[in-house]
Amino acid sequence: MTAPKTHPSIVLPSPFAPPTLLQTPTHAPNPNEALIKVTWTCSTPLDLHRAAGNLAIPSFPFHLGTAFAGTIVTLWLSPSLSSSSSGLNINHELHETLKEGDRVFGFVSDGNPREAAFQTYVTVPVHKISKLPQGIVGWGLREAVTVPANLVTAFHCLSADLGIRLPWPKPRGFKSGEGKKVLVWGGGSSVGLYVIQVLKYWGYDHVIAVASGKHHGELRRLGARVCFDYRNSGVVGEIGRYLDREGGQGAGPRIPYFVDCIGSRDGTLKPLSKIAERGSKVAVMLPVIEVPAAEGRRPVFAADEKHVEGVVWQEGVEVMGVRTLNYEENGFYRDKLQPEIIPALLAQGAIQPNRTRIVEGATLLERAQNALQLLRDQVPSGERLVWKVSEEEQ
Ligand SMILES: NC(=O)c1ccc[n+]([C@@H]2O[C@H](COP(=O)([O-])OP(=O)(O)OC[C@H]3O[C@@H](n4cnc5c(N)ncnc54)[C@H](OP(=O)(O)O)[C@@H]3O)[C@@H](O)[C@H]2O)c1
Repeated sequence: MTAPKTHPSIVLPSPFAPPTLLQTPTHAPNPNEALIKVTWTCSTPLDLHRAAGNLAIPSFPFHLGTAFAGTIVTLWLSPSLSSSSSGLNINHELHETLKEGDRVFGFVSDGNPREAAFQTYVTVPVHKISKLPQGIVGWGLREAVTVPANLVTAFHCLSADLGIRLPWPKPRGFKSGEGKKVLVWGGGSSVGLYVIQVLKYWGYDHVIAVASGKHHGELRRLGARVCFDYRNSGVVGEIGRYLDREGGQGAGPRIPYFVDCIGSRDGTLKPLSKIAERGSKVAVMLPVIEVPAAEGRRPVFAADEKHVEGVVWQEGVEVMGVRTLNYEENGFYRDKLQPEIIPALLAQGAIQPNRTRIVEGATLLERAQNALQLLRDQVPSGERLVWKVSEEEQ
């Protein structure tokens, strides 16, 4: 397999302009990087936040895409050197198992022209690569591409934000989550589906999930003990009555941990502010959306997740904004999460990928645009939008 000198990439060309195709250089790998031919990518709400709201865009053109799945074309492993883009030493034991031709996937930084995923070739440091496990049945790269961004998000928010211990490898009989309640609002979202599965694996047996009723069966199967429907206007009262029946946990808050997988001022923060109590920790997916994007309307994001207009938290509730792009600050996760932990959990069947909805379109650009439109229309429900970037090598 050889790579061309340049290849197409989907970028935002200028402020509030629609995405366009840019012919961009193919970068040969530096030490401890791989050049990967991308087969599948997925579109996520972040792409809409970037395109419609220009969220956190330092300069244009801005290369889109945070997850790739494809095949390694060229690999430069050099355990004695550090990866040029990250400046880190690699876990070479593990990466000895990587080789050219391997089918891989990963969570990468959009905005970085080398690694952003909406392009036919990406050049990625090896610590951001997961190898597709052998022996999995019924799914492949198309489903794998749904995993890395939001499974990394699940680890990052549970550990860095909520301070929940997720030791790896998990010690036999590890049960620190037994009986502790975690409320996951937005359980049917991609983030929520992974958060619930991670909590189950580490022994959290009292997960309260809030999602549309149609997801409740699946959420119970994945690890939720009880589910509530956010579309029911009395949902906050129902949760309160459930907590009254269950009784408290001594002196602490009835629910110590909350994960807001959506970050919507009206849809999630307002109801959560009526449930969280002194001592509760609430991790909120950023950005907090005050007004969602719609046809002809730009979204409005809150400037400060702790002080959102119209949201009044009880005294002593700790609110934290989740920033997964910072996950590499935890050196253990930087080195282990994508190369080792994610493939191992998938191989064991402890984590199931999201369901996929394939976005069609005659060209790369059309598929990217169609996916943005589906996100703007709030179509995805319990599924990830995936689309073909190029044909898989045989
Ligand atoms: N800052 C970070 O580090 C970070 C990381 C990852 C994601 N995020 C953000 O988190 C948000 C979710 O991301 P995602 O990839 O998980 O999105 P997603 O799967 O595309 O979200 C769609 C889901 O949201 C659910 N939903 C919408 N409004 C809801 C509400 N009021 N209550 C409960 N559920 C609701 C819908 O549930 P039903 O199907 O049940 O109706 C739907 O399934 C996005 O804004 C994303 O940008 C932030």
